[in-house]
Amino acid sequence: MFSLAGPMSEKHVLTIGEAPPPVSHAELRERQQALMTHLPTDALLLIVNNPEAIRSRDVEYPYRANSDMLYLVGWDEPNAVACLYNGGECWKTRLYVPPRDVLAETWTGLRPGVDGALADWPVDEAASVDELEDGLKPLLDACRSVYHIRGLSDRVDTLVDSALLEQSRDRQRKGSGPADLCDPRPMLSEMRLIKSESELSQMRHACQISSLAHIEAMRGSTGGVAEYQLQSLIEGCFLWHGSRWAYPSIVGGGDNATILHYQDNDGTVADGDLVLIDAGCEVNGYAADITRTWPVNGKFSDAQREIYDIVLNAQLAAIDACRVGNPYDAPHTAARQTMAQGLLDLGVLEGPNLEEALSVEQLGLWYMHNTGHWLGLDVHDVGVYRPDDEPREFEVGMVITVEPGLYFGAWRGDVECPERYAGIGVRIEDDVLITDGEPDVLTAACPKEVAELEALIGTNA
Ligand code: GLY
Ligand code: MN
Ligand code: MN
Repeated sequence: MFSLAGPMSEKHVLTIGEAPPPVSHAELRERQQALMTHLPTDALLLIVNNPEAIRSRDVEYPYRANSDMLYLVGWDEPNAVACLYNGGECWKTRLYVPPRDVLAETWTGLRPGVDGALADWPVDEAASVDELEDGLKPLLDACRSVYHIRGLSDRVDTLVDSALLEQSRDRQRKGSGPADLCDPRPMLSEMRLIKSESELSQMRHACQISSLAHIEAMRGSTGGVAEYQLQSLIEGCFLWHGSRWAYPSIVGGGDNATILHYQDNDGTVADGDLVLIDAGCEVNGYAADITRTWPVNGKFSDAQREIYDIVLNAQLAAIDACRVGNPYDAPHTAARQTMAQGLLDLGVLEGPNLEEALSVEQLGLWYMHNTGHWLGLDVHDVGVYRPDDEPREFEVGMVITVEPGLYFGAWRGDVECPERYAGIGVRIEDDVLITDGEPDVLTAACPKEVAELEALIGTNA
């Protein structure tokens, strides 16, 4: 437990509770079963974990497992392959994992190994990844379609390609080997789009920690602070609470706030500038995604306030559109209309009417991204937005971000910024669960009203 102390309103005393337990094995088994019911009886499904990535010479980036592997098996270590296959009487799940190896474990840490995988993961069988070729061959020979995502492992791709080639060369060998390579992603993304209670408890926890991290950065803000210093407050809070970032933190002061995915985080934020922070952590793989923008010295200028109010109103209108039965792009429509009208009223857009103001040539100059995306095991989570080319309607259990913004980059050479707003970038982003009632803002603990922000900024600087 960790609470904030200091001169804040009740609302900003945020207590981070116990971390939720990971999604249960029973639920992972249900997912496997549900997926198998969509497969033909003679199919084989392969889920390959992400490869490790080199950062420099013999140093790797911190490992992050493939979200489909986490979703189905919960295995979060590299060099593993899950196979879902028809075992005759029933579907079976087999997991190939790195075997125990005292020397390797001495360097990089203990491994569950084959016995550990079988005992402690929701699988029917486990085997050493050293036996992958011998083990997969009979499964490939016995199937007619293989569901596999290429590009994660040359080794598995080669095995699958050889089996497909062998079968196409010998069409007389009826019933032997896969004839089709199929993509499991459409099925998996449909399942992952609707979140269970257990998934939501991971996301709520990630949203609480991320909200607190933003509050810490607000409290540590002052003119002349370095972007990386604010980043350290954010990411320190993630770590303190046992989580890690879900995507690289974006911390941009002044004109840097107008770069959508700014990542240098090496500037200083001048007294009088806004700072935009887009940062969220993940808990057991589930992401939060929050953006807040505030004046680093604790007081919005009139010009900053004019733009901030428009974005905040747009965000509130967009959140209100997150309701069952609305098309997924209803928040985008609401946000765009509010921002176009606001900029018309300020004289930034010339109109002459709202329809013209909404065009790419007008609003599009200052608002160039969508208003949200699905959120879950991936920060830009899976889920088709336009099945059959029609916008998907919101259903209970979907989680979407709502993140309108306005960006007046003084650095831009293609267009003249309105002088009053040059160097102002504002984005406000929350994570919203669709319910059968009001939109449930999972990140509601993170302040965004002007008075709340001004009361908090610098209280710990
Ligand atoms: N954090 C990346 C995004 O908001 O899309
Ligand atoms: Mn986002
Ligand atoms: Mn974001």
